[in-house]
Amino acid sequence: MKPNLVTRRPVPYLPIFASTPIPEEDPDYVRVMSAEIRVLARRKNAVLLVHNYQVEAVQEIADFTGDSLGLSLEATKTNADMIVFCGVHFMAESAKVLNPTKKVLLPHLGAGCSLADSISPESLEDWKARYPDHTVVTYINSSAEVKSMSDIVCTSANAVSVVRSLPNDRILFTPDRNLGAWVARQVPEKKIVVYDGACPTHDVLRGANVLKTRQAYPDCVVIAHPECREDVLAVADEVCSTSAMVDRVAKYPHATTFLVATENGILHQMRKRYPGKQFIMADGCIGCRLHCPYMKVTGLADVWRALNEELFEIDVPADIAAGARRALERMMAVPRD
Ligand code: 13P
Repeated sequence: MKPNLVTRRPVPYLPIFASTPIPEEDPDYVRVMSAEIRVLARRKNAVLLVHNYQVEAVQEIADFTGDSLGLSLEATKTNADMIVFCGVHFMAESAKVLNPTKKVLLPHLGAGCSLADSISPESLEDWKARYPDHTVVTYINSSAEVKSMSDIVCTSANAVSVVRSLPNDRILFTPDRNLGAWVARQVPEKKIVVYDGACPTHDVLRGANVLKTRQAYPDCVVIAHPECREDVLAVADEVCSTSAMVDRVAKYPHATTFLVATENGILHQMRKRYPGKQFIMADGCIGCRLHCPYMKVTGLADVWRALNEELFEIDVPADIAAGARRALERMMAVPRD
């Protein structure tokens, strides 16, 4: 029987605790495996969409790397028969919602999202009952069912524009409290009630840590993701989505060092695009904190197996998909911030 991936939640597997060597650190393995994946993808007419937080070797086999908005847009444009989504569950689910006739695969069922899990349909129902006259804006880091109960979706790339685009002055923003509070500061003319979810990877960082790291690089530019707490965003020069974080570096042609406050996978795209610049994690640590175990669970072997065995297929019940598609399509009509 086909597992119901909407109701059966993935069980996280945390490779950070594994004692075996990480195969992606072996250049021969990476070369051979990547070549096999590309052959399989061509044979199956599959497109590989890869989020900016994935491990480097997986980013390197991508047809497209990007942020949640960019990858959702790519998912609507593709002519491929199959979408292999190297990211987390809600991203593959959104791709399926936007492409009901295509096969959408998530290579590893452990690729969940704590932030998306912080809001359940029941909890949103409860908040909607408390704020009945509010327009519900839901961050894309949420399940399809939660999206289907929302008026419109947003990502970190367009949250401010989405909220500004709405005629209602009363907004219920879910589930990320840090992004919601940041949007509320940009759009003071609206009354925004913010749900109390958070991404643990971003929420752990404190402004004091960023300031301490900055002392060692006094001329650096601080670039932060809006899932960070208010005290972090207050000391940032730029606050934006992951792909915009990469783009914004170009705004500072004379700067040599950038402190980056988001999941460490983004450094790969930054270093590739700007080889002469120095990129440092804002918390000064080597990856134990600004490291999302769910984003890092997918390896090359998972992608190969996904293509070979056509696993794990993401399905969304038609009624939920219809509601989620409406909320996603409304969002896609709004430009980036
Ligand atoms: P972006 O849309 O900015 O890539 O962010 C996705 C995400 O999950 C951040 O934690």
